[in-house]
Amino acid sequence: MESAEYHHAKALLEWQVELGALDAVQDTPVNRYDVPAAVEKPKKVATPVVAGIVAPVKVDAVAEAERAAAGADTLDALRGAMARFEHCELKKGARNMVFCDGIPGARVMLVGEAPGRDEDREGRPFVGRAGQLLDKMLSTIDMGRTRADAPVYITNVLPWRPPQNRDPKPDEIAMMRPFLLRHIALAKPEVLVVVGNWSCQALLGKRGITRLRGQWTEAAGLPALPMFHPAYLLRSPEFKREAWADLLSLKAKVRDG
Ligand code: URA
Repeated sequence: MESAEYHHAKALLEWQVELGALDAVQDTPVNRYDVPAAVEKPKKVATPVVAGIVAPVKVDAVAEAERAAAGADTLDALRGAMARFEHCELKKGARNMVFCDGIPGARVMLVGEAPGRDEDREGRPFVGRAGQLLDKMLSTIDMGRTRADAPVYITNVLPWRPPQNRDPKPDEIAMMRPFLLRHIALAKPEVLVVVGNWSCQALLGKRGITRLRGQWTEAAGLPALPMFHPAYLLRSPEFKREAWADLLSLKAKVRDG
């Protein structure tokens, strides 16, 4: 049997619900205007170090090249340092490293872009068709890589042939540039001839050979003359007139000092 007290309490509750009461009052009062305590952030759990697994260290190839180049005190030492440099992917696909040709100490140093197939095979710069044209161009101003009286010293920005003669990549230029600058410093030319767009990129920091050619500028602390690349002149012989003007400018510079 249910007590009268029970029925009384139930009737009271139903009446309150009818009035709109939603919550039963509890023994402990709830202050609904209280600002809730700041939620504590979950603590960071330290990532466990898995023994034996070491994150790969990224090598700074440019810094490595700078260190290797700075350590070379002679052209032979520089050649050796470049041959030992393992950070340029081009080395893997090349048959030979192409370091230089001509006479070290020449007043004129010519900087080309990169070896092609013939240069890769022989290990000497500018020995293919473009090189033959270059030799002819230099002979018109009585200079040449084998001329004791008016020698030219020759190198390239990249010492290894890019596959299929593709354009050099910016990171390849950046990592070989310290060697090129050291090469210039050790060869001690009086003037530089900067041949083609990629050589301009490496030494002048910009391309646009059509605008740059023929304008004496400064590179590696020396007077520098950008010129059309002989390979370009083979494809576009109509620009030989400009190349001729630039050769005369080079001759005058060397003559007048
Ligand atoms: N083109 C270059 O820039 N350099 C070479 O040695 C041959 C072709």
